[in-house]
Amino acid sequence: MTKTLVLGDIHAPYHHRRALEWVYRLADKMKPDRVVQVGDLRDQFSFSRYPKVLKMSPEKEMELASAAVSKIWAHFKGLSNFQLVGNHDDRLLKKVLSDSPELASLVGKSFREMYTFPGVTTVYDSRQELILDGVIYQHGHRSKLGDHARFNQRSTVCGHSHNGGVVFMRNLKGVYWELNAGYLGDVRSPAFGYHSQKRMHTCTLGVGLIDEHGPRFIPYDR
Ligand SMILES: [Fe+2]
Ligand SMILES: [Fe+2]
Repeated sequence: MTKTLVLGDIHAPYHHRRALEWVYRLADKMKPDRVVQVGDLRDQFSFSRYPKVLKMSPEKEMELASAAVSKIWAHFKGLSNFQLVGNHDDRLLKKVLSDSPELASLVGKSFREMYTFPGVTTVYDSRQELILDGVIYQHGHRSKLGDHARFNQRSTVCGHSHNGGVVFMRNLKGVYWELNAGYLGDVRSPAFGYHSQKRMHTCTLGVGLIDEHGPRFIPYDR
């Protein structure tokens, strides 16, 4: 059984530094064979439709995010690594495709560069799911835990809702489950000012882990 560490939404450069340090220590202890980041690796707040509360330029935001995400993947060098793409990741690409479709190939090239890391397999299309050991990995778009697996009728790993957890279900083929890997972003960042206070307080910091005992969510509770 491949031991898999699942990193939920990171939203760099608005990531939670201390939670990530905890993830590295946990990985040293748990010794996963594989790491999957399920998307929303970068936040790309500068390209959102929300009112801009940050003084940071898009260039600076990109530069900080690039440095942070390269550092994250460097920590898992030598493992079997996979990167998915979430709705925040292809935000810039979608904006260009709708505003200036003639720039699509140019922006598409830099998008691929932004999500290419040494020793990491990237699924560049946010609509495409990854299947490992019969389990579906996808960024997700639903908010209720269990809805993706119920739709897929198959064990599913996702993120997106920023709420970690596991739920088990059963169909005629047997038991299946959904693991949501939770959140590794910093809710105190001004980039999250558009969320309601209620939603911010329900974000669960932590990681997902799948091993021979099944899936679990490990919360970061500091
Ligand atoms: Fe997210
Ligand atoms: Fe998302």
